Amino acid sequence: MPGVDTSNSEKARSFVIDDKEKGIFLLDREALVSEEVLRAEVSNIFSKCWIYVGHGSELKKNGDFQTRKVAGRPVIFVRDAKGEVRCFFNTCRHRGAMVCTERQGNLRRFNCVYHGWIYNNDGKLARVPGDEAYMDSFDTTGLGLKSPARFEQYRDFWFMCLDADVESLADYLGKATDYIDLVIDQSPSGKMEVLHGTQEYDVQANWKLMVENSVDDYHLPTTHSTWLNFMANSGVVVEPPKDKDLVLPTRGFAFDLGNGHFTTDNVNFRGRPVAAWIPLYGENAKPEMTAIREELVTRLGADRARRVADTNRNLVIFPNLVINDGSSVTIRTFYPDGPAKMHVTAWALGPVEESEEARARRLDAFLTFYGPGGFATPDDVEALELVQQGLANWSDDRWSEMSRGMGREGEQLNSDEHHLRTFWRHWNKMIAGAQS
Ligand code: FES
Ligand code: FE
Repeated sequence: MPGVDTSNSEKARSFVIDDKEKGIFLLDREALVSEEVLRAEVSNIFSKCWIYVGHGSELKKNGDFQTRKVAGRPVIFVRDAKGEVRCFFNTCRHRGAMVCTERQGNLRRFNCVYHGWIYNNDGKLARVPGDEAYMDSFDTTGLGLKSPARFEQYRDFWFMCLDADVESLADYLGKATDYIDLVIDQSPSGKMEVLHGTQEYDVQANWKLMVENSVDDYHLPTTHSTWLNFMANSGVVVEPPKDKDLVLPTRGFAFDLGNGHFTTDNVNFRGRPVAAWIPLYGENAKPEMTAIREELVTRLGADRARRVADTNRNLVIFPNLVINDGSSVTIRTFYPDGPAKMHVTAWALGPVEESEEARARRLDAFLTFYGPGGFATPDDVEALELVQQGLANWSDDRWSEMSRGMGREGEQLNSDEHHLRTFWRHWNKMIAGAQS
């Protein structure tokens, strides 16, 4: 790249070139292809940051559990017999077998199929077959299922951290909590629930490309032209509204929220199950959506109601939790399975008191836009896989160009790359820590 030192010398190993004066931001493509980088991510990002485990509504009754992999660790996310939400490593204390092989269910006890050790759903070791063979000093009280070093929640979004010395979850989330609150405010009772059914798919691309893609509004007109045409043909005005009284003064912003978190913040013109009607929902939906809007205004006031209903947002909690608060609310996580492959999991979230009709609109939007067979995701997946295939040339064509909008003063636009640079700067700092 002319005029830029891209030697990337070992004394200051950095994966970005960040020259604010010249308005240049370049990303070393090795960050997207390297096994060594992945190992550094496991030790210094996935083992140091708060990582999303699940939502409390997935555990409605005492004894309900979900098993899943979180940052490569098999865990049991469970509501114990007393109603306390807990997280355990799904690993028997005897010889290490997974003690729960069901995806979800309701159990008082977890039985290890290997030698039969039995654990209560609060993790305590309840029974060891043939325990007379052990000496008197054998103490079962210290042999309960182990938990991650830290496990905390913000408004029923539960996270774990493998580092005991990490700041509290609330401090870690910081300003991102304002954007979680905007999601929760859609429910009259302040209670949202994960809806039945999970979307899962693999993408042959580096996991960080999904972080970028989840908030990259620059790609919308090209990658998603099919969907935009479909919306236009369905009578949705795909132009930003010109109303001078808008809740946001332009079509969309991107905000750095600190700690590597960031969000887009857009004027909504694509309809939302929460009180923003578009022709796609049909005339029959109008009365109910008007009533939802009135409830919002009564409960929150007109300004907050507009903020909740008339903007949509894609929030990234560093490193790998995305909350899409748009035509539906989607919680999405993705984990690397090698440098060039990720596994994506997505859940839909909705107010607990939603009617059957409103719920149907929400689920339709969850499938139509964000679903793996919908209008958006297959096109996004195709784009990301093309990037990864192109990156086979990384050592001969080393730098990705990410300086869009760098000269912009003041508030940043969602179609620029400011928020993506926010992610990469934070990522780069954490990886540098791993190297030192
Ligand atoms: Fe679980 Fe032996 S590994 S009882
Ligand atoms: Fe997209």
